[in-house]
Amino acid sequence: MTVLIAFATVEGHTAKIARFICNVAKNAGFKTNLINTDDFSGHVSLDGVVKVVLLAPVHERRHPESFEAFVTSNRDALTKRKSLVLSVGLKASFASGREEARDYLNEMFMRTGFEPNATALIAGAVRPENYGYFEREVLKHVVLLGRKIDPQDGAREFTDWDELTSIVIDFLG
Ligand SMILES: Cc1cc2nc3c(=O)[nH]c(=O)nc-3n(C[C@H](O)[C@H](O)[C@H](O)COP(=O)(O)O)c2cc1C
Repeated sequence: MTVLIAFATVEGHTAKIARFICNVAKNAGFKTNLINTDDFSGHVSLDGVVKVVLLAPVHERRHPESFEAFVTSNRDALTKRKSLVLSVGLKASFASGREEARDYLNEMFMRTGFEPNATALIAGAVRPENYGYFEREVLKHVVLLGRKIDPQDGAREFTDWDELTSIVIDFLG
């Protein structure tokens, strides 16, 4: 039984989450197929795939184009499998940001026409080593506005790995 884990990433944190999910699935006895949607925006073969985990980060209120293109191109095949979509972002890290984080996900489903079986909002990370001036300014003055977190203070992960493990184990059944 194979689980497809398809992810997009911009700064690498969602790739780390995808590898983590891969290990959780392997430990639960599944075979895994891990792909980056930057490499597979068209059709992929889902032969032998019984469950699908799709995950992508939010940058400026949207998930990456390659991710949406992947979901749209493979929508019919994905719909035939049990699916879990994870949206990774910093708004999801704070109770007061989760309504907005939920909007990003709903907007993505409206654009792609995809309706997964399960969804979850996953708290992301601050990775200042990957930011230029623009990214630092957007994080500080838009995404983290009103929070006592400054990208210049260094890297910080908000992801709750135990919670993520439970979400994945529940989904894999
Ligand atoms: C320029 C920029 C814009 C971002 N915009 C959003 C946003 O609109 N909403 C949000 O929740 N998180 C936003 N984030 C936070 C990212 O989703 C978070 O850092 C995530 O962990 C990135 O994952 P990645 O390393 O896989 O790209 C933004 C981050 C950057 C650098």
